[in-house]
Formats: sequence, structure tokens, C-alpha cells
Amino acid sequence: MDFSLSEEHLMIRDAARDFARTELLPGVIERDNKQEFPTEQVKKMGELGFLGMMVDPKYGGGGMDTVSYVLAMEELSKVDASASVIVSVNNSLVCYGLQAFGTEEQKQKYLSRLATGQSIGAFCLSEPEAGSDATSQKTTAIDMGDHYVLNGTKNWITNGGTADYYLVIAQTDRDKGHRGINALIVEKGWEGFEIGPKEDKLGIRGSDTHSLIFNDVKVPKENRIGEDGFGFKFAMKTLSGGRIGIAAQALGIAAGAYELAREYSKVRKAFGTEICNHQAIAFKLADMHTSITAARHLVMKAAWDKDQGKNYDMSGAMAKLYASQVAMDVTVEAVQVHGGNGYVKEYHVERMMRDAKITQIYEGTSEIQKIVISRGLLRE
Ligand code: CAA
Ligand code: FAD
Repeated sequence: MDFSLSEEHLMIRDAARDFARTELLPGVIERDNKQEFPTEQVKKMGELGFLGMMVDPKYGGGGMDTVSYVLAMEELSKVDASASVIVSVNNSLVCYGLQAFGTEEQKQKYLSRLATGQSIGAFCLSEPEAGSDATSQKTTAIDMGDHYVLNGTKNWITNGGTADYYLVIAQTDRDKGHRGINALIVEKGWEGFEIGPKEDKLGIRGSDTHSLIFNDVKVPKENRIGEDGFGFKFAMKTLSGGRIGIAAQALGIAAGAYELAREYSKVRKAFGTEICNHQAIAFKLADMHTSITAARHLVMKAAWDKDQGKNYDMSGAMAKLYASQVAMDVTVEAVQVHGGNGYVKEYHVERMMRDAKITQIYEGTSEIQKIVISRGLLRE
């Protein structure tokens, strides 16, 4: 067993770390306050190749492995989880979904723009009445021969207002249940496609979350991904990889908060000594570091499974379940280590605590990860 990273992995990790510190850190508090999308930073991430890391170079991607991707996700998330969720959705839901299951024409037309960051993507599965219970799709895509007519509402869509292309899951044949669901590529600006108001959120406030409304939107047949009825499996297969990205995001939030707490504890004095010399604080650091290391091993194992062509449904779900709990626990303790300063924005950890919570909710709640893991175990 070899736990070392290659030269290339280290280079990618360092490039992401450098970008996070120089480009994301300076405005992160202000963007959180103002709920401002990191437009300039996303543009630069596209230019640097962070938006299509695993895409085949023939479509403009970086051709990297999943281990490289999670290393970058961790570093970006240490500083700005709003920026990293944009990276995660574009890479592991939209680009991966198109690369793995799209037609050559779809890849030429859409993937090459998405992989280079010239365009941004969104993944649209959740609805007001179909979140965890994702097969209960109410949005309909009625087959009209050479096109579908799309009607319905999607909820909570990341990159909802800023995306150019949307992968939309919809029910074509209700009698067939989940086997009657399709995934369609929809472009912003098509007639009948309306973007709802931006959500005012607890965390990841720099990311752009909207509901989307489809009123008789005409979608050409060539924009369907995969065979008729493949849409639900498309969503599930894509989400299995997406969960590795969110697990890496959770890991990064935890690691970022831990690093801040550790450094603070070495300079803040109480009772005549640096607070890290009080065992209660030192033990918090020990617990944080231990759980972060365990989370990192799960994240890396899931990424490695994917790179080795092994099944990663369970390992991705375990990584997300565990890393998101670690993100919550560690950020709460990081605030505690900072005392009163932890409660004010300037010290970052309160934002990290708010950001951590979403990792237990999106791309499948923790309860849903337990369903995926337990079903997998019982199948073995
Ligand atoms: N790969 C391939 N196929 C899969 C699969 C997978 N990982 N998981 C399930 N399927 C297939 C099943 O085999 C089944 O097909 P067959 O009947 O042909 O065998 C079909 O899908 C239905 O599966 P289930 O019977 O298991 O379906 P279910 O209704 O019990 O639900 C679930 C399963 C795992 C709970 C699923 O509904 C789920 O994942 N829910 C959570 C939804 C979710 O994660 N949403 C995230 C939205 S995106 C997002 O959040 C992005 C963001 O924030 C940034
Ligand atoms: P519900 O399904 O109503 O769940 C409510 C509670 O019940 C949860 O605790 C849940 O775990 C629990 N529960 C439900 N069913 C079960 C069960 N069978 N067993 C045990 N417990 C259960 N979706 C997208 O499609 N694309 C996106 O880009 C996207 N981005 C998002 C960004 C943000 C900021 C947020 C908040 C959400 C986003 N989502 C997105 C939606 C997200 O995936 C859903 O919120 C999530 O899947 C949960 O669905 P729900 O909100 O309907 O909760």
C-alpha cells in the first residue's frame, strides 16, 4: 500500500492552494456578506483548468484523475466553499455526466465549452416535492417526435442564475416510473425557461442557488442524454461521483478551520500562556486532526476506487457521510478555540461553520448516504 502522492498530484495541490490563498481569500468575507458570485475568480479557475479537470484533453479538459480533483477541491474549500461548489458541480456532475454518457455531438457542442470555463453548467434534479425522493419527478418532458416539451419547476439549483447549460431530469412516461425519466440539455435563454429569485442562504452564500421554471420549453431530441428512459440512472451514476467532490469539499472546510484554530491557539494567550498549552485546547486539536485524517483517507479511497474503475457508490457515500460530519464537528470546535473572535466574521471560522452544514444536505442528505451504504452492504 502506497500513501504517497505523485509529483503531478503535488503540483496540482500546490497550484490550487496558491490560487485559494491569492485569489479566493482576499474577497471571501465580502462575497459571503453580499451573497456575491465569484465571477472573476470562476473565470480565472476556468483559465487555469480547474473547471474541467477530469475531462479528456480532446474536449479541452485537463485529463487528470479523480485524486487530482479531490486534492484541488480540498485546497479550494479550505478557503472558499462557495467557489468550490461551483467547481464541484461543473466538474463532477455536468462535465462528467456529458463525458461519460453524452453523444459526440453533445460533447463537441457543450462539453468543450464547459471544460474550459467558457460556459458554466448546472445539474437539475431536485424539485419542490422531489428532493431525497428523487424518483418522484413532477417535471415532465413530453415526447413530441423530434423534440420534448418541458414543463415544471426545479428547486435549489446551484449555478442556477449563472449557468449557460442545464442538465434537466424530467419524467417522460409516468407509467414506467423511474425507467420513464430522461435527462435533457437545456440552454439558458430558450423560450419558456425562467430563472426564479436567488435563495438567501445560511452558508455558501457566494454560490448562486435558484429555482428554475419551465413553461412549454422545446428541447430538441438530440439534446437527450443516453437512451430513452436513462435519465434516472444517469442522475444516480453522476451523483455517485459528485458525492466524492462534496466529500472533498467537506474535508477542505474542516481542514481549513482546523488550520486556523491551530495557528490561533499558538498566539492567543490566557492565564499567562498560549491557549494551546491548556490541554483542553490541545486535545481539541488532536481530535480535529485525527478525524480530518480519517476523512481524508475515505475521500482518497473513493477517488482511487473511481480511478481504478472499481465501483465507488459506497465508498463515495461513506466519504461524504463521514467527511460532512467531520466538517460540522471541526468547524464548531474551531469557533470554540477562537472564543469571542470565533463569533465574528473577520476570523473566518464562523463562515466555515455555516458553510459546513450544506455538505450534510446536498448531493444526498446524510440519511440518504446511509440508505446507499446499507443497501450496498446488504447486497454484498
Ligand atoms: N447507479 C446506477 N443505477 C442506480 C444507482 C446508481 N448509483 N442507484 C440507484 N440506481 C438505479 C436502481 O438500480 C434502480 O433501477 P432498476 O429498478 O432498473 O434496478 C433505480 O435506479 C431506482 O433505484 P432505487 O429503487 O434504489 O430508488 P429509490 O427511490 O429507493 O431511491 C435513492 C434511491 C438512493 C434514495 C435516490 O433517490 C437518491 O440518491 N436520492 C437523493 C437525491 C440526491 O442526491 N439529490 C442531489 C441533487 S444534486 C445536488 O444536490 C447538487 C448540489 O447540491 C451541488
Ligand atoms: P427532503 O427530501 O424533504 O428531506 C427532509 C429530511 O428528511 C432530511 O433530513 C432527509 O434526510 C430526511 N429523509 C427523507 N427521506 C428519508 C428516508 N427515506 N429515510 C430517512 N430520512 C429521510 N439539487 C439539485 O438537483 N441540483 C443542485 O445544484 C442543488 N444544489 C443545492 C444547493 C443548496 C444550497 C441546497 C440547499 C440544495 C441543493 N440541491 C440541489 C437540493 C438538494 O440536493 C436537496 O435539498 C437534498 O437532496 C434534500 O432534499 P429536500 O431538500 O427535498 O429534503
